[in-house]
Amino acid sequence: MSETDVELEARLAEQDAFDPPESFIQQANVTDPEIYQQFEDNWPRCFEQAADLLSWTDDYDQVLDDSNPPFYEWFVGGELNASANCLDRHLEGRGDEPAIEWIGEPTDEDNRTYTYSELHREVNEFAAGLRALGVEEDDVVTLYLPMIPELPIAMLACARIGAPHSVVFAGFSADALGTRLEAADSEYLVTCDGYYRRGDPLDHFSKASDGLANVSHSVDTVIVERLAKEDQIPHNWTEQTHSYATLLEKHRGATVEPIGRDAEDMLFLMYTSGTTGQPKGVKHTTGGYLSWAAWTSHAVLDVKPEDTYFCAADIGWITGHSYIVYGPLALGTTTMMYEGTPDYPDRNRLWELIETYEATQLYTAPTAIRSFMKWGTEYIESHDLSSLRLLGTVGEPINPRAWKWYYKHIGEESCPVVDTWWQTETGGMMLTTLPAIGEMKPGTAGPPLPGVSADVVDVRGSPVAAGEAGYLVANKPWPGMLRTLYQNDDRFINEYWREYSNTDSDDSADWVYFPEDGAKIDGDGYITVLGRVDDVLNVSGHRLGTMEIESAIVGVEGVAEAAVVGGDHEIKGEAVYAYVITEDGYKENEDLRERIVAGVEDAIGPIARPEAVVFTPELPKTRSGKIMRRLLENIANNDELGDTSTLRNPDVVSEIQQKAQSN
Ligand code: WT7
Repeated sequence: MSETDVELEARLAEQDAFDPPESFIQQANVTDPEIYQQFEDNWPRCFEQAADLLSWTDDYDQVLDDSNPPFYEWFVGGELNASANCLDRHLEGRGDEPAIEWIGEPTDEDNRTYTYSELHREVNEFAAGLRALGVEEDDVVTLYLPMIPELPIAMLACARIGAPHSVVFAGFSADALGTRLEAADSEYLVTCDGYYRRGDPLDHFSKASDGLANVSHSVDTVIVERLAKEDQIPHNWTEQTHSYATLLEKHRGATVEPIGRDAEDMLFLMYTSGTTGQPKGVKHTTGGYLSWAAWTSHAVLDVKPEDTYFCAADIGWITGHSYIVYGPLALGTTTMMYEGTPDYPDRNRLWELIETYEATQLYTAPTAIRSFMKWGTEYIESHDLSSLRLLGTVGEPINPRAWKWYYKHIGEESCPVVDTWWQTETGGMMLTTLPAIGEMKPGTAGPPLPGVSADVVDVRGSPVAAGEAGYLVANKPWPGMLRTLYQNDDRFINEYWREYSNTDSDDSADWVYFPEDGAKIDGDGYITVLGRVDDVLNVSGHRLGTMEIESAIVGVEGVAEAAVVGGDHEIKGEAVYAYVITEDGYKENEDLRERIVAGVEDAIGPIARPEAVVFTPELPKTRSGKIMRRLLENIANNDELGDTSTLRNPDVVSEIQQKAQSN
């Protein structure tokens, strides 16, 4: 490091607040600091600004119907189609501009550019194909696809005909797919023969077939031929298996009129982890969700039609839904989509892509930023990243050091960094600074967005003092909010509302949304989200329920009982630690350990793979029989142990510690 670099590091380390760069302010979409007050004074009509970013086939009569909380309705009476908003309306003027820049693996020869016209054509053809298979309005279509263009194409084709999609992350296991198909009663599946991971072809269809084997109803399956050239097309075709290519061929040049959807009609379902084994089907709507995705892309990510915007997430998660597909395409921009990983074929990959495509924004996760930091700056320095105008992060808390590294080395101190807190259920961003307005404080997401009402409260629901830890809540509804959990209104109320609401009341002022995160707030109203307070882990920015993992482990032959907790991990943020009691007659050996890891991978997927499996004779339990997870977390992290006096079996603690260390 040169001396100036040392000085620079020292200055950055000292600095705890950063003003938006002047050059950014000059050109930003939203620049008036009065916006916060205006939204407050004009609530909920302020959200017309979001709805106005869309084209409606029927105007709405009412912005918000809050007469039956927490079943809020937004843009009541309005009619629109998401696919028409993301495609048709851009054809005139931007038809020849790229909508999607897809970068495939393993070689750049696979790359594809879809202009808005081309994307529109293929979406129409596939929509016609889906119709021909029998898909009708309101039928749930499950999409089990990796990061290939056919995923957003299928999403938009579903949206076009009013069939809600349910995307299942391609990294999820066969079992996870089966559970989701079953839970959504979904009779249609779009998947592929395989895809590439680090240059190697990966069989995806077998996994899909295994998942289908456990579904109690019949499922028509469309297979995208991604690996056709590898001669990997699956052999077990039945009457219910259809080729994507053949389907398109049959419907070449077809046009499908976009179906008018009520603002409150479901656009999609997305399953996410909760505290019980059963994943939650989060329901998002056409009007509210799409307005929120578009508005936050405009106001926070500063997306403009002429941009080439890069979000490095996977469309299998909500981030990709809102900020690779729906938000950016609704605004008519060019959205990049990268199939591979940031370190294949080498660690230059992302920077190469940013340089080649002249990306204007980069939106990624702290876990990725921590990896980049670890790799060092040499890969960055050899690339011209000056096209970047804004940086964003999402998925988990980012520590000030990583924030500053991102700001300095990727943004060259000329891009604002937006730390955006939100979740699957919120549909889009909730807490973050507006990039041309708010002072940025590394490590804290920022204030609620204009019109969003959030606070940090104690167990009784009273606001905590500045600097104290408490629970994050949202006091008012917002357009992008989940409407309910699919076919489970009771669970919807229990999971998100019961804690802080008067559930007997019809007055929406008595209803408070609880996202199950701990947080603290500073004197300026900036909120730092500390992490989940429920039994949900955040591994590399992905949500995993401890219950889901535990039930997978208990399903392994030889396991009597299991407890899973999160331990600190340098790159992943949190990692899965499993404490396992074996059944009588089974040995605590490597074989069992391997079967446990395999059991978790089968039930959920490699993302849930335990970092450590610790065999223990007993689990630490309170007198009432509750597992003391806090204690197991302390052991996983090698932390000082808290009070153990309330334990029924205090002796077990030192034994577990020894076992964990010898692991
Ligand atoms: C949970 C939501 C939002 C899309 C990706 C994850 C954590 C998210 C932040 C942030 C601190 C964050 C929360 C939240 N989280 N963003 N900027 N700072 N924590 O979506 O799988 O629904 O997970 O991720 O704990 O509740 P998800």
